[in-house]
Amino acid sequence: MAIERVGVVGCGLMGSGIAQVAAQAGCHVTVREVSPQLLEKGLQSLDKNLARLVEKGTLPSSDRDQVRARLRGTTNLNEFKDCDFVIEAIVELLPAKRELWTALDKICPKQTIFASNTSSLSITEMATFTQRLDRFLGMHFFNPVPVMKLVEVIRTIATDPKVFDEIVAFGAKLGKTVVRTSDRTGFIVNRLLVPYLLDAVRALEEGVASVEDIDNSMKLGCGHPMGPLTLLDFVGLDTTYYISNIMFDEFKEKRFASPPLLKRMVLAGWNGRKAGRGFYDYADPARPKPLQLT
Ligand SMILES: NC(=O)c1ccc[n+]([C@@H]2O[C@H](COP(=O)([O-])OP(=O)(O)OC[C@H]3O[C@@H](n4cnc5c(N)ncnc54)[C@H](O)[C@@H]3O)[C@@H](O)[C@H]2O)c1
Repeated sequence: MAIERVGVVGCGLMGSGIAQVAAQAGCHVTVREVSPQLLEKGLQSLDKNLARLVEKGTLPSSDRDQVRARLRGTTNLNEFKDCDFVIEAIVELLPAKRELWTALDKICPKQTIFASNTSSLSITEMATFTQRLDRFLGMHFFNPVPVMKLVEVIRTIATDPKVFDEIVAFGAKLGKTVVRTSDRTGFIVNRLLVPYLLDAVRALEEGVASVEDIDNSMKLGCGHPMGPLTLLDFVGLDTTYYISNIMFDEFKEKRFASPPLLKRMVLAGWNGRKAGRGFYDYADPARPKPLQLT
């Protein structure tokens, strides 16, 4: 089955990027948000990304117009009824995902393939909210989606191998390098990355060094493109907090437990770059100012 019509649920950080790369790959994309205001915000950020590509000369403006013509925003899930493939990128909370998959399973035909972009929730558990365990899998992109080259494709014990291969091929069609993995919490990247990010917060909490010095240490001492606290601000502190809770619940290991400081920052709404404040203040986004948090 050729995947031509793609539904993307959520037009936040990840959903807007996934919608963009699918439309750039020639698919007809419907992207859904929960309100007209959030939809407008998500599509504006997508338009800004496309405009940047045109300015840089990597996307001719006529191609940009075609990409945009293949993209449709909606607040109505019923518009997913003709999709070949639906990918979900909504908040990392199981009850919200349960409600969504239960509704979508009734709207979409039996052959539609479902995928979640979850970072840490069980793909198998989400599949059980539908009647299509064999056509359900994980497709985990990285932020920012149009820039990051990797996608993890995740099978469960019930995923039909043909469906798995189809989505691996779809990932390649989107221009990504695909790694195949199975339904273990955190898959490959977050299994390794999340304990490192949480340790950076613990180091800050314990007074090992300042925000700036922790980031500079990993950038200049280890050659990372950005420090862990900057990366946390990019990923979203709320998203990381939800992920750490899910991973701790699964493995019961301290390395996955959320440090108290992370929890308090999320409670205060300091969710990182998207909120204007995290480990840095983004009042001037071109010059983030490290904050004194301990
Ligand atoms: N941020 C990252 O770096 C990253 C990377 C890979 C995967 N993910 C995963 O992608 C998903 C989305 O993360 P994000 O970073 O785009 O978050 P975000 O905060 O930017 O967007 C969240 C989206 O969820 C929607 N939403 C919130 N509550 C909802 C509800 N009750 N019902 C339906 N929709 C609801 C919002 O409207 C928005 O579209 C999560 O599962 C996350 O784990 C995130």
